[in-house]
Amino acid sequence: MENNRRVAIVTGGAKGIGRAIVAAFAGRGVVSVIADIDLDAAEAAAREVRRSGGEAIAVRADVACVDDIVRLVGETVARYGRIDILVNNAGILSNTPYDRIAETEWDHVLDINLKGALFASREALKPMLAQGWGRIVFISSLAGRSGGVSVGPAYVASKAALVGLARHLAKKVARSGVTVNTVAPGTTETDIIKGFTDDEMVAINDAIPVGRLGKPEEIAETVAFLASDSAAFITGAVIDVNGGMYMG
Ligand SMILES: NC(=O)c1ccc[n+]([C@@H]2O[C@H](COP(=O)([O-])OP(=O)(O)OC[C@H]3O[C@@H](n4cnc5c(N)ncnc54)[C@H](O)[C@@H]3O)[C@@H](O)[C@H]2O)c1
Repeated sequence: MENNRRVAIVTGGAKGIGRAIVAAFAGRGVVSVIADIDLDAAEAAAREVRRSGGEAIAVRADVACVDDIVRLVGETVARYGRIDILVNNAGILSNTPYDRIAETEWDHVLDINLKGALFASREALKPMLAQGWGRIVFISSLAGRSGGVSVGPAYVASKAALVGLARHLAKKVARSGVTVNTVAPGTTETDIIKGFTDDEMVAINDAIPVGRLGKPEEIAETVAFLASDSAAFITGAVIDVNGGMYMG
């Protein structure tokens, strides 16, 4: 590997939007560390990148576990000597309504969707600040921007909180060459939405002004832009990629 290739950690990079982000990075010569709780899927994604001439490795990590995050960042620095980009993409959906959700489910969703993003950012910021260049991108959600309808309060609260967390970190590191931004996808064609009923899917499609769901590649292109040199003056921003569902 050439020393000047940028290195990205993509949490939840084995499937869906994360996998599309890894592919977008590979197309731009960025090396990806695919950090996922599903190691088999992460290894399959890494093999696909290598087959197409890119560079990627898989690391099993549960973002809800701070020890896993510390190990992930340590292994990345040990192998590549740098971390340039972190995409806090790993997330789970929760549809349980506010009047039925148990404390355990609330904690589980917040641990993965929110806590993991803070501690991954904390660890990745150490090498980024030392090298004076870095890009952190949070993957929030339309639900966190608008309140959500079909999804539950733990998901909505975790995704809304990511926006505040990203802005806090953006301000803290603004003078260092590191930017921190958020992408808020609308409903996108991945496994995460398989839990919706056919009726819910018809309602979701009907409500989207452009008349269709998003594609993972469309989210990935926005992330790749924010992770590039061209986006150096954008920090603390939220980019809505949602077919016109929410125009903040
Ligand atoms: N698909 C959508 O409609 C949509 C809309 C808005 C936001 N999002 C957000 O985009 C992100 C990616 O979602 P997706 O649609 O690609 O989902 P997905 O289920 O297809 O992929 C999620 C990935 O995260 C991994 N993952 C789950 N828990 C993890 C954990 N604890 N540690 C590490 N990895 C873990 C999974 O194994 C999987 O590879 C999520 O944060 C999601 O909330 C998705």
